[in-house]
Amino acid sequence: MTNMKKYTLLIIVLFYGGFIALGQNSKILSSVKNVETKVDSVLALMTLEEKVGQLIQYNGSWDLTGPASELDNKQKEENIKKGLVGSMLNVLSVKATKEAQKLLMENSRMKIPMMFGYDVIHGYKTIFPVPLGETASWDLEAMENSARIAAIESVADGINWTFSPMIDISRDARWGRIMEGSGEDPYLTSMVAVAKVKGYQGNDLSGDLTIAATAKHFAGYGMAEAGRDYNTVNLGDNELHNTVLPPFKAAADAGVATFMNSFNEIDGIPSTGNKHLQRDILKGDWNWDGFVVSDWGSIPEMISHGVAKDKKQAAEIAIKAGSDMDMEGGAYEASLQELVLEGSVDEKLIDDAVKRVLRVKFKLGLFDDPYKYSNPEVAANISYEDHKKAARDVARKSIVLLKNENNLLPLKPEVKSIAVIGPLANDKDSPIGNWRAQGEANSAVSVLEGIKTAAGKDVKVNYALGTTLGIGERSFLMPLEINTTDRSGFKEALEIAKKSELVIMVLGEDAFQTGEGRSQSKIGLAGLQQELLKEIYKVNKNIILVLINGRPLEISWSSENIPTIVEAWQLGSESGNAIADVLFGKYNPSGKLPVSFPRTVGQEPLYYNQKNTGRPSSDLHVTYSHYTDVGKDALFPFGFGLSYTQFEYGEIDLSASEMNADGNIEVSIPVTNTTRPVKELKGFQLLDLNPGESRIVKFVIDEKMLQFYTSNKIWESEAGEFEVFVGGNSRDVKSAAFNLIKN
Ligand code: BGC
Repeated sequence: MTNMKKYTLLIIVLFYGGFIALGQNSKILSSVKNVETKVDSVLALMTLEEKVGQLIQYNGSWDLTGPASELDNKQKEENIKKGLVGSMLNVLSVKATKEAQKLLMENSRMKIPMMFGYDVIHGYKTIFPVPLGETASWDLEAMENSARIAAIESVADGINWTFSPMIDISRDARWGRIMEGSGEDPYLTSMVAVAKVKGYQGNDLSGDLTIAATAKHFAGYGMAEAGRDYNTVNLGDNELHNTVLPPFKAAADAGVATFMNSFNEIDGIPSTGNKHLQRDILKGDWNWDGFVVSDWGSIPEMISHGVAKDKKQAAEIAIKAGSDMDMEGGAYEASLQELVLEGSVDEKLIDDAVKRVLRVKFKLGLFDDPYKYSNPEVAANISYEDHKKAARDVARKSIVLLKNENNLLPLKPEVKSIAVIGPLANDKDSPIGNWRAQGEANSAVSVLEGIKTAAGKDVKVNYALGTTLGIGERSFLMPLEINTTDRSGFKEALEIAKKSELVIMVLGEDAFQTGEGRSQSKIGLAGLQQELLKEIYKVNKNIILVLINGRPLEISWSSENIPTIVEAWQLGSESGNAIADVLFGKYNPSGKLPVSFPRTVGQEPLYYNQKNTGRPSSDLHVTYSHYTDVGKDALFPFGFGLSYTQFEYGEIDLSASEMNADGNIEVSIPVTNTTRPVKELKGFQLLDLNPGESRIVKFVIDEKMLQFYTSNKIWESEAGEFEVFVGGNSRDVKSAAFNLIKN
């Protein structure tokens, strides 16, 4: 055996209602027959102007007199009538989409229906946990289900295309958009990507209640330098292929209808103008046949990037690079036709882009019925009560118990007085999170409400705000102004803390502290929250800290001093009920972190699946890859999450110690629920064990699982020793080793 190398594999076992989730990669089959023939026959009839029209997307904010946008509405309306628009975004309601579609269908020559897109990121009206939080459930079935529900509610409002899932790997808690993705791990994110695509698109895009999904942002957007949104990305081939691209490949294989490219550049090339990414990899190597929509205005933004001198050149670069549709950028509209006529752009490129758009429209069934998604009966048949139940179910599964000293949780029946304190305790808005689609402001069940409902009459629930988190307006457009001076609520909070047996502090982030353009250099408890927490701690040490937030927070002081910490993310419409379910023991917490929580913001970007350096030792004298003032490990690592029961892992048993390239190895490990009285994630299973019950968990490892993108610029495995880790998180693991033999 030459070239023996050492590798590590990680398998995480999670506990909760048993289903096994490995290798779900099935292609979504379209029931639409002969789509290609139909696409070709439509294309053959189109003029160049009409073709270019298919590649244009307008923003709507539609009212019945026309699309209200900052651009000239009258002109937009005229263009729609001529059929020179391929799709619109932000046109909402059955009535408005129908009106817009009618304009086009009743006036244009070719009568090619428009698609209506919208950012349906974590629910439409019924709001589910923000994606980072929902991923903490590790429950692919539940995540697929929330996407399915979001699709139904979207269809009920005229939408047939969501700009989701966002599957950017992100390892930097400073980046505001970390809340929109599935965290730091490519394997887990790939699995979520597939689940989401299945949820939105179902098995058949032409179904009445399914919508087209979008894998975004292609690519590297989550790797923005210093965690600053839109910032430059420096990404080598190894990292690009092994970390950033796998979720996109998984989404493409799952049949995702569209991709959206990204605002960032990689190595001097904006993604919108990146031919290698979009043509060579996505449409070439992966043989994916959907269309790529630009991000909002990202085509003309290539002027600011410094790679295009004007809109015309930006359009030329973008179409050549494989950006098929221009989202509200005006570049294709202004210049594509001219570029073809003057011979700078081959019409074949336009044809290819148009075919891609038409293909999706055929698959959606729009040619059979352009008004299919403007059907008022869909709304009439929705049971929002059932959707709420699903939201509560996945919300409680997403909660991660970070610390539970003194077993304060679950709350004991003997506890008769509880103080609920904090700016987010009775806040019905923050749990809705950013990217809330049509989720209403202030519509979530607050923690206080959830607790009051669950506590019953015998328990005295005292509430005090303590401090406000922000002052002034909170909105998608305005960053929150943080309160750093008003301590007027401290006194009342201290009084109720003193007279109650225990305190539930609800702290964290406002809904609009994360999301697009919401990067922060500090990730602690903003404003006066930390100060309030310390004051309360002086008068009552029985504190349960409930965190509501969209990014990993710096909570080192709390982790040392506060006995119990519950990570509750922004859990959506049913937030307070889900949190109460966990606090009162109605639900045994099962969530695990999809992202590392740092000891200090200076550790960011931080992730468990780091490579070894040439000097990996933790020896004090060899601190080169460490910090001199703090360890390099996470405060709470990827995969971390406690439960009210304890689990014991037996010894790992491998079915063989050597494996040939065409063979496989079975890993088994006994796991027992004992409550009677560097690494790479390769698999996970959800288990439901009764107290005292023990079960053997099995995973199969084959050669494909061991492949990675190597310096030979292909995916391959290398012979050598592999160490298998199995455990409840990425840190506390059992291990065993085997050899992969290759001739
Ligand atoms: C975001 C996208 C989003 C688009 C449309 C952009 O600013 O980056 O994620 O889909 O706007 O709203």
